[in-house]
Formats: sequence, C-alpha cells, structure tokens
Amino acid sequence: MNLKEYIRVIPDFPEPGIRFKDITTLLKDGAAYRTAIDGLKEMADGLGAEVVTGPEARGFVIGAPLALALGVGFVPIRKSGKLPGETVEAAYQLEYGKDRLAVHKDAIQPGQKVLIADDLLATGGTIATTIDLVRQLGGEVVGAVFLIELGYLSGRDKLAGIPTHSLIMY
Ligand code: PRP
Repeated sequence: MNLKEYIRVIPDFPEPGIRFKDITTLLKDGAAYRTAIDGLKEMADGLGAEVVTGPEARGFVIGAPLALALGVGFVPIRKSGKLPGETVEAAYQLEYGKDRLAVHKDAIQPGQKVLIADDLLATGGTIATTIDLVRQLGGEVVGAVFLIELGYLSGRDKLAGIPTHSLIMY
C-alpha cells in the first residue's frame, strides 16, 4: 500500500504558501491507518521504549495506537493550560505560529525510556520542545517516529543523536 496516496495536500492552508499535509484522508481509511501504525511499530521495535509520548493534537492519533501496538503506555504532551496537574512547560516556534507545550511532572520517571511519536516532522520545533520536556523530567529519548517528514525543512537536524524514522517523505 502506498500511504502517500492517502495524504491530501491542501495549498495555502493555514497561510498562503503552506502546502498542508492533511492526514484525515488516511485516518478515515481503516486499512491505511492500520498499515501506518504497523509501519511505525516496525520502526520502533528494538528501541526498547517503555512509554510513548506525542504532542497534541495529531501526535495523539499516531502516538496512542502506536503505544497500544507496542504494549506500553502513552503520555500526552498538551498545549499550555489544558493539563490539570502540576506541569513543566516550554515555549516553541511552529512552521506557522508560536505556542507552549506542557506535560505532567509525574508522567515520566527518571531514566524511563521514551519513544516520541507525531504525525509530522516539519521544522522540528515541536519535537525539539517535546524532547526538552521529556529530558526535564529525566526521561531518556530512545527514538522518534513520524508518519510524515518534510525533508526540505531539515527538522531532522534538531534530532541529532536520536534514532529518527519517517514513513512518508516529502
Ligand atoms: C503540527 C504537527 C506537528 C508539528 C510539526 O502540529 O502535528 O506536531 O505541527 O511542525 P514542526 O516540526 O515545524 O514543529 P500543530 O502545532 O499544527 O498542532 P495540531 O496537531 O494540534 O494540529
């Protein structure tokens, strides 16, 4: 199955010049979604992840089923102000816009092996911030997996030293 065929590219969203990669067309197809999660699981096998984490919102639809497939738990990284308990936070820059991410202080244990998952690696700002939060809690980032990578934005440069895999490359 060629998963790229299930991604819809929408020009000039959310701003002129951005070619938005819409994954909803993949997610609504059960076989394509299953194939994507199976492919990511294969990439993650052997990394020894004890927990998966992913950033709101699209990181959840990739990270949570991947965690289940790997037989480990899932830790949500949320936009600031959403988590009810004590959090650590960090500001980040997006391909378009700015935001803050947060994670519960007790969500990851010191020394725990953490796999990061998201739908898209673009500039790498979101994932660099996710790594920062995991490390603030003492977690060990053992790898990062993405459904889509925009290679021309070089986000991978922000993941130096971390095994990084993507299923679909643009
Ligand atoms: C998108 C995407 C990634 C991030 C990638 O999330 O889901 O998390 O941008 O961009 P970057 O590599 O340049 O940081 P977005 O912040 O749009 O949030 P959403 O998942 O809630 O739509």
